[in-house]
Amino acid sequence: MDSLLVTGASGLLGRCLLDADWDCEVVGTYYTTPIETDREMAQLDIRDAEQVEAVVERVDPDVVIHSAAATSVEACEEDPELARETNALGTKHVVDAATAAGARVIYPSTAYVFGDDTPVHAEDDEPGPINLYGESKLEGERYVQENCPDGLIARFCVVVSLGGGEYPDFGSWIRGRIESGERVQLISNQRITPTVLTDAISALQFLIEGESQGVFHITSPDQLTRYELGREIARRHGLDPELIEGIALSEMDWSAPRPQHLCLRAEKLRHQGYEPTKIRIE
Ligand SMILES: NC(=O)c1ccc[n+]([C@@H]2O[C@H](COP(=O)([O-])OP(=O)(O)OC[C@H]3O[C@@H](n4cnc5c(N)ncnc54)[C@H](OP(=O)(O)O)[C@@H]3O)[C@@H](O)[C@H]2O)c1
Repeated sequence: MDSLLVTGASGLLGRCLLDADWDCEVVGTYYTTPIETDREMAQLDIRDAEQVEAVVERVDPDVVIHSAAATSVEACEEDPELARETNALGTKHVVDAATAAGARVIYPSTAYVFGDDTPVHAEDDEPGPINLYGESKLEGERYVQENCPDGLIARFCVVVSLGGGEYPDFGSWIRGRIESGERVQLISNQRITPTVLTDAISALQFLIEGESQGVFHITSPDQLTRYELGREIARRHGLDPELIEGIALSEMDWSAPRPQHLCLRAEKLRHQGYEPTKIRIE
């Protein structure tokens, strides 16, 4: 690969992808938030097909990691047009431009494409989202599947740094709060299989290098609640886990429905020889 384009490079995942070691030219895009980086950056609104075409034509990438998305589950529920135009239509624009340029498309997706109470989902399970974020990301997935025979869809579930990340994320937020002695309320009755941020990057690189195609899950094998995750992060950093308090999913003031289980099994990834990080310290 000579050239890589990362959309959404001002976001958590895109920023870390930009910082990763690549043996090729790397160009990133941002939408509203310019960032300090040595990499070349382009301003881009993926809802504008002409803008997308112009950026892709200029960069002429071999691979596009399409990380740009409307990622707030609540914002998507409250603004269905934002969800559809960014996650479905925006993805169509990126896929159309990338395929016209002969580039492979890598599409980070989400466990929210599932919504039923199956305890854990495999890659081939039939999706069935119950919120608009999940629906719009699934529309993006389907466009990639129908138009990119060599495309790669990588589903994550709550990407966390375990408290040591360079950029703000859920893990570093928890750590910061308990370091300053504040109590943190975290959901204690919904199980998740978090994606450790370093795995999100290195497993994506592993799959891209191996030219893997189709749907892959990139998640820790550990199923735990956010409450248990918070306590693990506290313990890892020698902090007081008692500052973490449980709260029920039903007590959250959220408009978007959430499934009771948000767990993925990273079976295909493990079969390819990549072991995702375990979160629980035994
Ligand atoms: N983080 C997670 O827990 C998680 C879990 C599962 C799946 N994912 C998937 O992983 C990908 C990256 O997530 P993330 O956590 O890095 O998201 P994030 O931090 O919220 O970043 C989103 C990125 O998308 C850009 N963006 C938003 N609207 C845009 C538009 N109309 N045109 C162009 N760019 C736009 C943002 O640009 P500006 O900030 O410059 O406006 C930002 O760079 C997403 O596809 C998401 O669905 C993430």
